[in-house]
Amino acid sequence: MTDRSPIPYLDLKRVNDTFQPRLSEAVDRVVRSGWYLRGEETRRFEEEFAAYCGVKYCVGTGNGLDALTLILLAYRELGLLVPGDEVIVPANTYIATIFAVLRAGLRPVLCEPSPLDHNMDVEMMERLVTPCTRVLLPVHLYGCLARMDDICRVAREHNLLVVEDAAQAHGAALPPLEEGQPLRRAGSLGHAAAFSFYPAKNLGALGDGGAVTTNDEFLARMVRSIANYGSPVKHIHDFPGLNSRLDEVQAAVLSVKLPRLDEDNARRRDIARRYALGICWERLGCPCRDGLPYNAAYYLDDSPAGRMRHVWHVFPVITPRRDELMRHLESQGVYTQMHYPVPPHRQKVLQGELGTCSLPVTERLASQELSLPLWPTMTDDEVQHVIDALNIL
Ligand SMILES: Cc1ncc(COP(=O)(O)O)c(C=O)c1O
Repeated sequence: MTDRSPIPYLDLKRVNDTFQPRLSEAVDRVVRSGWYLRGEETRRFEEEFAAYCGVKYCVGTGNGLDALTLILLAYRELGLLVPGDEVIVPANTYIATIFAVLRAGLRPVLCEPSPLDHNMDVEMMERLVTPCTRVLLPVHLYGCLARMDDICRVAREHNLLVVEDAAQAHGAALPPLEEGQPLRRAGSLGHAAAFSFYPAKNLGALGDGGAVTTNDEFLARMVRSIANYGSPVKHIHDFPGLNSRLDEVQAAVLSVKLPRLDEDNARRRDIARRYALGICWERLGCPCRDGLPYNAAYYLDDSPAGRMRHVWHVFPVITPRRDELMRHLESQGVYTQMHYPVPPHRQKVLQGELGTCSLPVTERLASQELSLPLWPTMTDDEVQHVIDALNIL
């Protein structure tokens, strides 16, 4: 054990304290307003978040799982999907992605990730397309954008919908297609996208929250109706609905936090770069090239891959010594997590839903991934503590 203070995986109190007193003022304003759902705060945040993502519409929802489910249900009501249609999803995602597909009565088809960026392997994805495929559902895992240009090309060739699961990627962006144009942000890269504002996310509320973003007016209207008991106008229920709305308190909180998202993501990138350059990767048994992790390009802004703005929701270390490393770090006062040690296809609840699958890359990641502490208000000393603790192993 060291005499330095312990480093939690994430210290949300310290993150949210830096938004005070504006967070408490925003909550207080809503409490005093007497209006708690479907009001001015939600309308304003939806407008701000749509503008931030670079889309025309944003619809607040109760959480990220509902946001994804609502997009798929809305496409069903609009006649673009029918029960049993196939949706290609990454096998190494949080289980919510797959639950959303099943809740919408569709069939998830699991695709292996690329070991380079842990996102959907686009070549395999293309091989999985069948006449029953209707949707490609990439997840921007850990804050790293999936290969959206390639995914959208495949979608165009096969006439498929592209739904982004952007729950881990608020603010992640591709460079503009032409100079002088804005960045192309997560949430604007497919036909529709789902976000989660779970408190630990890069843009986190003080409870559950989510959003759908899209440029499709019909889809946005349908999502809003289904999320409000299938009601397009008061007293009229045209569709089987859910109750899933972003509430006024969470919307007010998110409006306080959104203006600092880019700055917070820049600090996340800075910490990721420090980890990449400071840790002795070879000694940890991590796949490396020239002493840097094999995916080093993502850490270095001047490389072609580095031009993609990775937002480091999670900093993954991939090593066969994962469990030993986790115990060692804990003995040094550094707390880590795993994303995700039991992959969805191994979960009891999905047995019988997914057919038999052989997913060796997904299984290797599940047994080897360790996530280091990374949040925007970590100090440089704390980052160095993590690096030192790893380098003495
Ligand atoms: C990739 C991914 N998709 C969907 C979700 C679901 O979001 P929520 O927890 O807000 O329902 C999460 C949340 O952790 C996630 O990480």
